[in-house]
Amino acid sequence: MATVRPAPLSKAQLFSLVVPDLRRIDKVIAVDTVCCKDVVTQISRHLNASGGKRLRPALLLLSARACGELGDAPIRMAAVMEIIHTATLVHDDVIDSAEVRRGTPSTNSVWGNQVSVLAGDWLYMQAFNLALRERQFGMLDILTDLTKMMVEGELMQADLLGRLDITERQNHDLIHRKTACLLSACTRLGALIARQDEPTEERLRSYGWNLGMAFQLIDDVLDFEASEAVLGKPVGNDLKEGKVTLPMILALQSCTRAERSQVEAVVVEGGYGSVSFSTILEILDRYGSIAKVRLRALRFCEDALEGLETLPDTRYKRALVDAATHWAVDRAS
Ligand code: IPE
Ligand code: IPE
Ligand code: MG
Ligand code: MG
Ligand code: MG
Repeated sequence: MATVRPAPLSKAQLFSLVVPDLRRIDKVIAVDTVCCKDVVTQISRHLNASGGKRLRPALLLLSARACGELGDAPIRMAAVMEIIHTATLVHDDVIDSAEVRRGTPSTNSVWGNQVSVLAGDWLYMQAFNLALRERQFGMLDILTDLTKMMVEGELMQADLLGRLDITERQNHDLIHRKTACLLSACTRLGALIARQDEPTEERLRSYGWNLGMAFQLIDDVLDFEASEAVLGKPVGNDLKEGKVTLPMILALQSCTRAERSQVEAVVVEGGYGSVSFSTILEILDRYGSIAKVRLRALRFCEDALEGLETLPDTRYKRALVDAATHWAVDRAS
């Protein structure tokens, strides 16, 4: 007899499963990011009030709930992961000299680089402090490994800045370090909190990792395709900062010498002076690069779902299944 797969959850339905918990997480963040230096508290409030998809805490929560853990520990650790994410955004915007984040001026553009770096450090350490309270060394292993991976990723990205000869493999490694590791840490922690065996922890790690790979590929696509109003951060930024991401890597494999020179001009000039953004978009379009990257993101999503196969069939598992497409690929911001 054919099994009938339930209709996919809408984005709103997906979020409604976690909304009450996300509110509690936001409260934990607000209480636990109060610093004796007001500026740090202000920075944390500024970022949390300006939005953000709360993808990482939602993934941690759903993973823990899908593994049968219905208590409060996932709330506390989800707050930890969102604080770590916030710290990486503060540092990322300093590194990328970004002026806008979540539709408002970035931390560095309001408070300057010095304060932002220190506030990011404080948020990082506060997140570790909160994680320590759980008294589970396994969690700290995950968090320290994660932090090293992300920092190494940013350093590698700095080395590759401005390089048109960046390979697909190097790009894969960067995406893995910058983004997939954080998402996989969230889903793995969900399993760990629910005291699952190692194979289950590994499967949830794999789910989060694949989702993270897809998520960053789409972030790189949106940098070309979206509008700033919807995305909450400027578009066309990666290339002018010298970041040659996968859509451009693929186009460069097939384009003409003249087109390559146009791409190079944007990188060298650090902007769209002699070559316009629309010329760059035309090059990507000509070689179908955006569509190719979207397809790759979808493949990562398919691989992500394999990690969920052995979980019991609950609404939380269904949410994780649907999150793969809704939260990673099929998104506007
Ligand atoms: C931004 O992450 C950093 C990347 C990994 C691309 P999000 O797009 O999840 O940022 P917020 O939290 O929703 O602002
Ligand atoms: C994403 O890097 C990873 C981190 C923030 C660590 P990006 O530089 O692509 O992130 P956005 O696009 O500024 O959000
Ligand atoms: Mg950035
Ligand atoms: Mg960056
Ligand atoms: Mg980006």
